[in-house]
Amino acid sequence: MLRHDILDLLVADPGKYVSGEKISQQLKVTRAAIWKQIQVLKEEGFEIEGQTKNGYCLLKTPISLDEWVLNGALNTLSLGNKLHLEDELKSTNVRAKELARQGGVHGQVVLARCQSSGLGRLQRQWESPRGGLWMSVILRPNLSLADASKLTLAASVAIVDAFEELFSLRIGIKWPNDLIFNGLKIAGILGEVVGEWNTVQTLILGMGINVNFTRERLSPLLNATTLFEILRTDVDLNILAATILKHLEKQIIALEKQAFEELRARWLERAVGLGEEVRILRGEQVSQGIFKGITIDGALLLETENGEESFTAGEVQLRSKTTNYF
Ligand code: BTN
Repeated sequence: MLRHDILDLLVADPGKYVSGEKISQQLKVTRAAIWKQIQVLKEEGFEIEGQTKNGYCLLKTPISLDEWVLNGALNTLSLGNKLHLEDELKSTNVRAKELARQGGVHGQVVLARCQSSGLGRLQRQWESPRGGLWMSVILRPNLSLADASKLTLAASVAIVDAFEELFSLRIGIKWPNDLIFNGLKIAGILGEVVGEWNTVQTLILGMGINVNFTRERLSPLLNATTLFEILRTDVDLNILAATILKHLEKQIIALEKQAFEELRARWLERAVGLGEEVRILRGEQVSQGIFKGITIDGALLLETENGEESFTAGEVQLRSKTTNYF
C-alpha cells in the first residue's frame, strides 16, 4: 500500500528528511502521486514537514486510530498480528464474529473509530462516539469453555494495568468486568462465544473505553465518565490499544499455563465492593450477602444466609447495598 510504503521510508531514518525523488525511485511512483498521498496523510493527522530542498520529514503520528501507527506500537507475539480497522462499524464484536466464522485467526483485532450500534452486556446498547477505543479481539486460546469468564477477567485486569502504566491512574473493577473511576464507569467488556466452543473454541473479547471525548457526549442517564474528564487531555489511542493488548496477551499466556492465581489476586486487589454487603440481580431474582471474592473458576462468591453461593457472570448484575457507587 503506497501510504504505508511512504511512511515506512519516512520512519526508516527518524528525524531525517527523505527526498521526494528517493521516495519516487524506491516506490516506482511519480513525485506528484507522492505529494498527493502526503497531503492525505496530513489530513489524517500525520505531521509531515516538506522542504523544497530536503524533502519530507515525519514529525508526529496521529493520536486517533491508525493501522500503520498501531502496528508500529504493538509489542505482542500474536495479539494484533492481523488488524482490521474501519472508520465506522455497527459493532466491532459483530464484525469480529463474522470474521471468526470466515476463519479469522487467533489474535485478530477489529477496531472502529465509532460504532453505530455498539453492544453492551445484558442486551444493552453501548454508546460509542468518536474518540473512544472500541476494539474486539478474536481469541482461539488453548482453554475450555469453563475458562471463558477468566478471559473477560483478564481483559479487565489488562485495562487496569494499561491505565496504570500509561497514566498512573488507579481504576477499580466492578464484577464481572466494569472498569470504574470514582464510582463512574469508564470502560466495559463483552465476551461472546462463537459457535460451539468445544469444536471451534472461539471467544470474541470486546472492550469499550471512553477516552477522548467529554461526558456530555454520552446519555445523561449513564453513570459514566471518560478519560478526558479525568486527565483533561487527549491520549494516543494507538498506544492505549497496543498497551492493553500487551497486558492481555500476558494474562492469556498465563491462563493457558493454568496459572490463574496471579490474575485472581490482581483482580481482587482492584475489586470494588469486596467485603461489602451486596445484592445480586438475576432477572427478577435477588440474592443478598457479603461479597467474599471470586472462585477458582472466576465466579463471584457470596456469603449468604444459606452459606456460600457462587454466581457466574452470564445474566447477573451486582449492586451495592450500602453505597450508591455501583
Ligand atoms: C458492558 O456492557 O459493560 C460491555 C460493553 C462492551 C462494549 C464494547 S465496545 C467494543 C465491542 N463492540 C461492541 O459492540 N461492544 C464491545
